[in-house]
Amino acid sequence: MSEINIGLGNNDTKTRREAETDFVAFWAKQAKNLSWFSNWEKTLDWHPPFARWFMGGTINASYNTLDVHQQNKANKPSILWEGENGESQILTYKDMWIQVQKFANSLKSLGVKKGDRVTIYLPMIPELPISMLACARIGATHTVIFSGFSAASIKDRINDSKSRIVITSDGGYRRGNIIHLKEIIDESIKDLDFVQNVIVVERTKNKIHLSSKDILWNELMHNVSDTCPAEPLDSNHPLYILYTSGTTGKPKGVLHGTGGYLTHLHSTFKWAFDIKDSDVFFCTADIGWVTGHSYVVYGPLLHGATLVMYEGAPDFPDESRMWQIIQKYKVTIFYTTPTALRMLMKFGDDIPNSFDLLSLRLLGSVGEPINPEVWKWYFKIIGKEKCPIIDTWWQTETGGLMISALPGLETIPLKPGSGTRPIPGVIIAIVDEVGNDVPPNTKGYLVIRNPWPGMLLTLWGDDQKYRDVYWSKYPNSYYAGDYALQDADGYFWLLGRTDDVLKVSGHRIGTAELESCIVSHHNVAESAVCGIPDVIKGEAIIAFVVLKQSVTSNNMDKELLQKIRDDIGAIATPKQIYFVTKLPKTRSGKIMRRLLKAIANGETIGDVTTLEDGAAVTEIQSAFKELQKSIQKKSDLT
Ligand code: PRX
Repeated sequence: MSEINIGLGNNDTKTRREAETDFVAFWAKQAKNLSWFSNWEKTLDWHPPFARWFMGGTINASYNTLDVHQQNKANKPSILWEGENGESQILTYKDMWIQVQKFANSLKSLGVKKGDRVTIYLPMIPELPISMLACARIGATHTVIFSGFSAASIKDRINDSKSRIVITSDGGYRRGNIIHLKEIIDESIKDLDFVQNVIVVERTKNKIHLSSKDILWNELMHNVSDTCPAEPLDSNHPLYILYTSGTTGKPKGVLHGTGGYLTHLHSTFKWAFDIKDSDVFFCTADIGWVTGHSYVVYGPLLHGATLVMYEGAPDFPDESRMWQIIQKYKVTIFYTTPTALRMLMKFGDDIPNSFDLLSLRLLGSVGEPINPEVWKWYFKIIGKEKCPIIDTWWQTETGGLMISALPGLETIPLKPGSGTRPIPGVIIAIVDEVGNDVPPNTKGYLVIRNPWPGMLLTLWGDDQKYRDVYWSKYPNSYYAGDYALQDADGYFWLLGRTDDVLKVSGHRIGTAELESCIVSHHNVAESAVCGIPDVIKGEAIIAFVVLKQSVTSNNMDKELLQKIRDDIGAIATPKQIYFVTKLPKTRSGKIMRRLLKAIANGETIGDVTTLEDGAAVTEIQSAFKELQKSIQKKSDLT
């Protein structure tokens, strides 16, 4: 791939040198950019695989995102909020500070204390970051659930985190429709007696049923004091839990701390986005995912930046919405996903070309590999060949970005499709099956060799699973679950997941979670789920289902699709369900996913000597052939 030489402006070699000399001292220096109530006694307490950063120090995330800006930036816009239906609202740093303190006092009035968990199920409205920062202010741990998840998924998460307080809204707008969030919450908590109150923001004003547990946001906030000092919290106090899919049937609660996480975000936001006081930063991620936590809420606000927060769908009311927003707010930094870009690119160049996008100076991509042709389109049509593109690799577990070009720190030639190099202070390697470094240009497993400040504390309530999932494959190395290679120039190229986690529109979906949902239908005997390449979403889900004897497949696809929507949510809807009589299995009874994947991707199927029954392969192969034909005919079920 050819390089794109674009001057990124800065060249600070000292920072990298310091990080290479002593990564612990390096991160201690970065942490000093934050406001601490009391200094730490020990920078890193590392009892592998548990890292505790800035031991003994006390800090508060809400204080560092709001209070610290009151002297110089009180009247600066923090959030430029754009509603899907065209409404808008500007919240200054002072507005946010007041609202957050009022809501923190409101939570206290309901008995919420330091250490309690609070579940937030809200659309992209200002009350969402206000709720998060209010929790952080009093030391409650927030757990935000993406508003596309179903009642059953929410129930699991509320039950796992034992949140006594849930925050939701009457509804949320999506492509002009109202999603009835309150009804979904009612359904999810109906058997959860420990839920004490549901706080309801009135966003859409649709009719809702209010029970004795429900309290309207506005009523709760009425006559509440707007002074609530931020609680000094231990650096490793849990800031939030964010559930994410893995290879087991149950989502994992990734737990992040405070001081380390904020240090990671403060540093990476500055290095990667080269943030200046005059910037208008627009990250399109929903706050329900980690990108939204780190780079819509915490990262920009730590820096006192102005951010654009958009409520709705990127193509509503028409395909020009993103470009309209950039023009309207004179956005300077735009951070989005390859899925969004592939969709926007499909609509043609005339649409972006008819808007003034010249305010842009830096572009970013996150969540999945970006195909070089999309990269080039982004560079040429959106960035007008003058904006560097940072391709940022990271995960819910890493807290902040880990591999990226860093325009705020150094100049580096870009190669479309590569994230370039790791950030200073983290050591990333590509290794073979037994953990030896592989030579340049060789595909291997991506590992992280040292603890870093944004890393997860553990999995909520399950230290053993944390050890098993991330730290058991290689001693003392974090196993990311991604294939990658490093080229001769030291650039990293991400090559997809090593496990059974799919990336659909950049969102993680565990095949095991989906299979256990399908198999729990009384007519289903077995199921196997895999991904196939999709031009827009990156991957699309295909499900193979073996029905119980005597059951016919009539209408079963519709029933199963509905069940998946009910149990997990619309984001996990397969593109196609295929009914077969058997699945390819090893003689020991394990489904051969490698084989399903290979057939799905039109690759050679390799060694099948361990296969129990070759007929299953033939059946799956012909199923795929039919499927390819029907995919061309049928419109996407999602
Ligand atoms: O497979 C990698 C992919 O997304 C996974 C992490 O997903 P999640 O926890 O949902 O976080 C997404 C947003 C940070 C990774 O294991 N991934 C993320 N960024 C990239 C990527 N793959 C390729 N290139 C990227 N820039």
